[in-house]
Order: sequence, then C-alpha cells, then structure tokens
Amino acid sequence: MRQKLVVGNWKMHGNAADNRQLLQSLVAGYPSVGDVSVAVCVPFPYLAQVQSLLAATPVAWGAQNLSEHAQGAYTGEVSAAMLGDFGCRYVIVGHSERRALYGETDRLVAAKFVAAKAAGLVPILCVGETLAQRESGDTARVVAGQLDAVLDLAGVAAFAGAVVAYEPVWAIGTGRTASPVQAQEVHAAIRVRIADRDAWVAAGMQLLYGGSVKAQNAGEIFAQADIDGGLVGGASLVADEFLAICQAANR
Ligand code: 13P
Repeated sequence: MRQKLVVGNWKMHGNAADNRQLLQSLVAGYPSVGDVSVAVCVPFPYLAQVQSLLAATPVAWGAQNLSEHAQGAYTGEVSAAMLGDFGCRYVIVGHSERRALYGETDRLVAAKFVAAKAAGLVPILCVGETLAQRESGDTARVVAGQLDAVLDLAGVAAFAGAVVAYEPVWAIGTGRTASPVQAQEVHAAIRVRIADRDAWVAAGMQLLYGGSVKAQNAGEIFAQADIDGGLVGGASLVADEFLAICQAANR
C-alpha cells in the first residue's frame, strides 16, 4: 500500500502574518487527518518561517522551483542545496505555470529534477496537457513526452522516492476538475509508462492529482486506484478546507 500524500502549493500567495495563522491552524488540525503525509510548498522568502513553525511537527515543507545548477553566477536563482539548508523535503518541478509562463522546457525540467535528486530532495514532477491538447486527443502523447524527457535524463531509478503530479492545465485554478475516471486513466498510463522501465519503481511511486481539488471532490478522486493524493493550489490557502482535503485522503 502506498502512503497517501497531500501537498499544498501556495503559489505566489502569503505574507508573514497570514502564513503564521495558516500554519498554526494546520498543525493544530493535523491529528484529525490520520495516516496521510502532508506538506506545503511555499515561496522562497517564507522557507525560514515555515521551517521554524513546522520543524517540530509532522507537516513537511518544500519549495515551488529550483535552479538546475548547483551553484555559480546565476543571479536570482536558488539551488537545491539552499533548499536543503532550510529543511525542505520536497520541491515542485515543471509546474505548468513555469512551463507556460517562464519558458521551462521538458529538458530544463529534467535537469531540475536531477538537481533536486542530487541534493536529496524529493522532486514533485508536474505533467499535464492543455485543453487544446486534450480536445485533439493528444493527452497520452503529451504526458508521455513530459515523462520520457525526465526518465531519459535522470534514469528510472531516480523515480524511486520521487513524486509525479498529474495536473491537467485546463483544471488548474478553473474550478473544473478532471472527472475521477479521466484522472485515473492518465494516472494509470503514467504508472504503466514507468513500469515499462521498472515495475518495482512504478508500483511504489506516489502519483498525485492536481487541478481544482476541493474538500467536496477530493474523496472521489483520491479513491481511484492509481491516485495517491493531491497537489492542491487555491484550497491549500484555507486551513479548514485543506485539512478536509487531507482527511479525504485517509479513506
Ligand atoms: P488549484 O488547486 O488552485 O487548481 O491549483 C492546482 C495546482 O496548480 C497545484 O499545483
């Protein structure tokens, strides 16, 4: 049995005062969640605050991006080792917003995945198709291509202990979720794609669904055979809603 995992992605939201309240509410409510791993991925400037508030708790944390380089003259970039310095366990790699708005290619995403693994972080690799790609029947090909780019560079062994998040672009922040059947179909295809290279790695991997996950739809989605939890944007900014989503993973 794979452990369920729910990760909040705050995106570019938050301020020190609100973060404190949100984190304290999460920690207070965590015992109600049961046997589910929970983490939050926050903007870089808040990593120290999150570390100090979560260090003695079961809630893990991480970042939303990292440099593909280990160090050097890369003004404005943040390395995997720096994230490690702030106690990060996770780092999101290849979020669709980074791919679409900041020009991140499959190749760059793969290099970031490798950098994260080299520093002992758990990469959360995001894959997913746009609405146009889905409507033209391209979902399987697009997702396979995104996965293969990382598999080819990092090797399948690097996926042991990594996380893949399927986030259909058309479901992110839109209030429109993939149906449980649609999501399961892509999750199963992802697992098979990895199993083609290593069945053991594929069987142990946590595959998350992301895209307008709410307390009200989480249970049905997380009940699918190949869905091991969620990557949650907007709803992770509201403690009660996020906790309810985490509880939904515990069934
Ligand atoms: P929403 O939950 O706001 O749709 O965002 C999903 C997401 O992109 C998480 O990484």
